[in-house]
Amino acid sequence: MLHDADLRGFASDNYSGVHPEVLDAIAAANGGHQTAYGADAFTARLQEVVREHFGEAAEAFPVFNGTGANVLALQALLPRWGAVVSAKTAHINVDEGGAPERVGGIKLLTVPTPDGKLTPELIDLEAWGWGDEHRAQPLAVSITQSTELGTLYTADEIRAIADHVHARGMLLHMDGARLANAAVALDTPLRAFTTDAGVDILSLGGTKNGAMGAEAVVVLSARASEQRVGEALVYLRKLNMQLASKMRFISAQLVALYDGDLWRRNAEHANAMAARLRAAVEDVPGVSFAYPTQSNGVFARLPEGVADRVRERFFFYDWDRAAREVRWMCTWDTTEDDVDALARAVREAAGA
Ligand SMILES: Cc1ncc(COP(=O)(O)O)c(C=O)c1O
Repeated sequence: MLHDADLRGFASDNYSGVHPEVLDAIAAANGGHQTAYGADAFTARLQEVVREHFGEAAEAFPVFNGTGANVLALQALLPRWGAVVSAKTAHINVDEGGAPERVGGIKLLTVPTPDGKLTPELIDLEAWGWGDEHRAQPLAVSITQSTELGTLYTADEIRAIADHVHARGMLLHMDGARLANAAVALDTPLRAFTTDAGVDILSLGGTKNGAMGAEAVVVLSARASEQRVGEALVYLRKLNMQLASKMRFISAQLVALYDGDLWRRNAEHANAMAARLRAAVEDVPGVSFAYPTQSNGVFARLPEGVADRVRERFFFYDWDRAAREVRWMCTWDTTEDDVDALARAVREAAGA
């Protein structure tokens, strides 16, 4: 064995393995020959599944990872002179190694937010200067659902952003690496806060929800189609090295999650474990929380030294070391025992 299959932690929702139903789907997709580069039966089925979730106009472009999905989606929306407005905490700004700028050639215009969420007023801090040749043109806005801070936009909040963005001639991108967690927390279908709320293009997550490695860019709106975003994606996906030759295995993972209720079961479980964790440590003296726990991440501020003592037993990341803030992520295979053991360790380390 190269690894300890019992080792568990709260570092990220991609530290977990592959959900057995996804692994079965990959195995079932094996055998025989299928046309490469996406003209296969599994990618065709994925298009049907995506249309069932997001509406008849939706078109999916499976890719290898979330960074690739984001860069590709934004590149397809923007001309060379375009810029995208995002929260300062957005994954595209802090966790993609500069790929949007370097690979995508996209200028990011970032805005500080209290909770990872943009509002029309916050967008306006950077959405200005159209027609000024000295300013990269703000032509898109990117929001993350659920956010990097574990918070959520309501469908109405997204609709207000979409109306605001569209009225200014911009398009709206959603980073949905954790879209499933948002849908179950809001108790709505996926389309209620995407297609129906005016989102133009989506990075649809799979990996954090139990896939081995599968995401997709999904074109949602007629507005995006009119700008020939789908056609751009055909060429940009290859150019950005995100075109899988054996695409059937990527599509089969997304079909396994989204054709049925696996996406929902996995996200419900991860969210429930985060809620359990928060409830279990909420009354520990000196522990406080920077944000509401609305999806599968808990962001806690701990007394001096507690994080490092607990980390001797469970791995997780500091989110903001200066603020003594840590991030605990729950995932589809986090157990109640894991959560209770972490909570006990926090309690002991805090001397409670
Ligand atoms: C909000 C968000 N977007 C996108 C991604 C996808 O990133 P990756 O390129 O690691 O698949 C992540 C993963 O951490 C994320 O948290």
